[in-house]
Amino acid sequence: MAGPGTPPLRRTTVTRAEQRAFAARGHVGLAGLWDRDLAQAIAAEGRRRHAGAEIPRRGPRTPVPARRLPRRATPAASGPLLARVHLSLVGAARALTGRLLVPTFAAYGYYEGDDEVFLHIDTEQCDLTLLTVAFGDVGPLHVHPHLIGAGMERLGELEGDPAWDRDGGIRVTYPDSGVTALNGHVLPHHRPRRPVAGLSAVAALCYRSLF
Ligand SMILES: [Fe+2]
Repeated sequence: MAGPGTPPLRRTTVTRAEQRAFAARGHVGLAGLWDRDLAQAIAAEGRRRHAGAEIPRRGPRTPVPARRLPRRATPAASGPLLARVHLSLVGAARALTGRLLVPTFAAYGYYEGDDEVFLHIDTEQCDLTLLTVAFGDVGPLHVHPHLIGAGMERLGELEGDPAWDRDGGIRVTYPDSGVTALNGHVLPHHRPRRPVAGLSAVAALCYRSLF
């Protein structure tokens, strides 16, 4: 199966336990998908591609009230290795969700100074989102099952509300040598602001369901 240019994934399947956890919670860690060499290659590509990173034209934009200080948009870049990993994981993505998923986009998102992500749901391009820390230091994502069904306006109101508990939600850490699989178009998520020295990047692999 592995041919030239195919990343050496250690596994491209998921377990029943992972399927069940994803179905029950809307997120699950898939650890051990790749080895150290591939992890280092992803980190190296992520660092290399930073110079050409741009603010994506599309993507979630949480409409926060003006009183909340806007954060700098997250620059993003793609890369051929990440694109191959994206394709290589389509079988695992389908097995995990039981849906006919197709790859839509894969990108490194860069954080400098802090790792904050406003409360949002992912776009319709992301019926399944796989997330991995490419390099650097990134805090856990906080997911909010009780906010399922809330639109971006409501999520923006919460994000702009100084009384909203930014430490709330369920903390989801990123597994080693693998991804966090997230039902990101349904399950609202955010990352509270935390100062981070230097540059960090999270790679996001998105899949859309044909049906
Ligand atoms: Fe997201």
